[in-house]
Amino acid sequence: MRILSGIQPSGTLHLGNYFGMMKPAIELQSRGEAFYFIADYHAMTTVQDAAALGANIRGVALDFLACGLDPERAVFFRQSDVPEIHELAWYLSIICPMGLLERCHSYKDKVSKGLAATHGLFAYPVLMAADILMYSSDLVPVGQDQKQHLEVTRDLAQKFNESFGEVFKLPEPSIREETATLPGTDGQKMSKSYNNTLEIFAEEKPFRKKVMSVKTDSTPVEAPKPTEGSILLALARCVATPEQVAGMVSSMKAGGTGYGEYKKQVADLLWNYFAPFREKRQALEANPSQIDEILANGARRAREEAAKTLARVRKAVGVAR
Ligand code: ADP
Ligand code: TRP
Repeated sequence: MRILSGIQPSGTLHLGNYFGMMKPAIELQSRGEAFYFIADYHAMTTVQDAAALGANIRGVALDFLACGLDPERAVFFRQSDVPEIHELAWYLSIICPMGLLERCHSYKDKVSKGLAATHGLFAYPVLMAADILMYSSDLVPVGQDQKQHLEVTRDLAQKFNESFGEVFKLPEPSIREETATLPGTDGQKMSKSYNNTLEIFAEEKPFRKKVMSVKTDSTPVEAPKPTEGSILLALARCVATPEQVAGMVSSMKAGGTGYGEYKKQVADLLWNYFAPFREKRQALEANPSQIDEILANGARRAREEAAKTLARVRKAVGVAR
């Protein structure tokens, strides 16, 4: 089984990214051949500053490795180390109906938030389909917000196969129900665009401060607290044992404890959970050439795979030499 996922180097890693995509991807890396990459071409739709992009790429490489990506098991590479991806994206573009892209929520959301409506942003899902199909992926671990892009990918694979013969297999998304859409500090989907994120590798003080800012209601200290839709419980469920969660639920139902106390408990749980990751990240940071080597190896393996797919695709469309 081939498992593939990508993450854009477009911001700082937050709990939504980790529990929605990275953790499931890391857990899958021993279940098949994993291809995980840094989607730097995609990030350029929003980050158009060379120095910032470079720093983000390095940051995301450290994050992924610190969180447990094993370069011995998974092929870990930068999207832009395989520029052939654009050739495949073109072959998919020529059969991609405009309407398919016009329906994409992610494009509409980004434009409504003020991003320029560029061709790159519009064609983003075609490049993503190329990423997935280039490496003959069976399973794509992602958060809920990427589901539609997987549907576009399947549609394009099917259309391509109908037009040019059976070249691509259809990938399946792998979305964890419990963490498909993790809420941020304000209760909306945690996202760097909403300024409601909890960043995994933040410094302790600002991290705790942000957890203390999680939105709660005005239930008095002595009264029972609603547990349905509680952001604090959603965060606790990610990192606490079932017994700890059950204890928090029964304490909330009983009343007598203020939200401040629960926030402190959740901050402790989160901070402790990520302690080994922080240590690992520091160790990796001290050895930048190791990261370069890992990515260079990954690029080599990814390119080999891309060459095989492109040979089949070129033949199918009629441009093989
Ligand atoms: P953001 O919304 O902060 O811009 P990205 O779009 O870069 O995040 O998402 C990277 C990966 O993390 C994707 O697979 C996405 O589905 C997942 N993801 C992002 N936010 C969440 C969330 N709040 N809950 C679950 N998964 C998420
Ligand atoms: N669009 C994804 C995101 O924003 C990143 C991505 C690019 C991706 N190509 C991919 C994810 C291929 C999975 C498979 O998170």
